[in-house]
Amino acid sequence: MNYYFITGTSSGIGKALVEQLLLDEKNYIFGFSRTNSLKNERFTHQKVNLANLEEVKNLNFPDLKDVKKIILINNAGTLGSIKHLGNLNTEDIITSFNVNLTSVALLTNAFIKQYQQENFERIIINISSGAAQKAYDGWAAYCTTKAGVNMLTEAIHKEQQLMKFPIKAFAIAPGVVDTEMQNVIRKTDKKDFSNIDKFHNLKESGALYEAKDVADKLIAMCENTDLIEGLISRIEL
Ligand SMILES: NC(=O)c1ccc[n+]([C@@H]2O[C@H](COP(=O)([O-])OP(=O)(O)OC[C@H]3O[C@@H](n4cnc5c(N)ncnc54)[C@H](OP(=O)(O)O)[C@@H]3O)[C@@H](O)[C@H]2O)c1
Repeated sequence: MNYYFITGTSSGIGKALVEQLLLDEKNYIFGFSRTNSLKNERFTHQKVNLANLEEVKNLNFPDLKDVKKIILINNAGTLGSIKHLGNLNTEDIITSFNVNLTSVALLTNAFIKQYQQENFERIIINISSGAAQKAYDGWAAYCTTKAGVNMLTEAIHKEQQLMKFPIKAFAIAPGVVDTEMQNVIRKTDKKDFSNIDKFHNLKESGALYEAKDVADKLIAMCENTDLIEGLISRIEL
C-alpha cells in the first residue's frame, strides 16, 4: 500500500490530489484541513487548524501495515491578508507563518521521528511557490514562509544524507493553478498588491494550470522521484 499524508485536502491542489490518488486501489490517504467534503473507504480525514500549533502538536503518524511507500505532502497554504507591511494585523502574520511554515516543520519532525528507521521508500514533498524566490508587494508573509519551506527542504535533505535509510525531500512549486487561492488574489485591491493585473491576465488568457493536471504530475513524481528536477523545482505542464 502507498500511504499519503496530505495537508489542505478540502480544496484546490490538495483535493485534486486525493481525488486522483483514490483512482488507484493501492493508495490510502490521510487528509488534514479545517473542512472536508470527501468520503471514501481509503480516505481518512482529520480536522485540524494548522494555524493552531496546539492542534498540530497533537497530530500523530500511525504505525502502518503492508507498506510499499509513505509520502507526506505539505500542501496546505494561505496567502493571508494581502496588504503591505504596516497595514497587516498581528494575527494574520502569525496565521500565515503557522500554516505555511511552522506547521510544516512540526509535521516534518513528527514524520521523520516516526518513520526514520524504516527501509521502505519515504518521501516528503513540500509545496512551495515561485514567491519563495521572488518578492511580491502585499505578500510579505507568504514569500517569506515559502522561502523558509525551501530552506527547510534543503536542511532535511542535508540531514537525511547522513542517515542509514534516507528519507527523500523535495520542494515543488506548482505553477499558477486555477484554485481558490487565485480567486482570492484577483479580488485584491491594487493599492494592496501592485501586480494584480498580471493575475487577471493569466486567468483571462487561459494560462492557469488545472488542479487535476498538477495533481497528476505530483502523483507521477511520487511514483517515480526521478521525474523531479532537483531538490527545489517547479512544475511545468
Ligand atoms: N494556486 C496557485 O496558483 C499556487 C501557486 C503557488 C503555490 N501554491 C501553493 O499550493 C498549495 C495549495 O494551494 P491551492 O491553490 O490549492 O489553495 P486553496 O484552494 O486555497 O487550498 C488551500 C488548502 O489549504 C488548507 N488550509 C488553509 N489554511 C488552513 C489552516 N489554517 N488549517 C488547515 N488547513 C488549511 C485549506 O483547507 P481548509 O480551508 O478546509 O482548512 C485548503 O484545503 C499552497 O501551499 C499554495 O501556497 C498555489
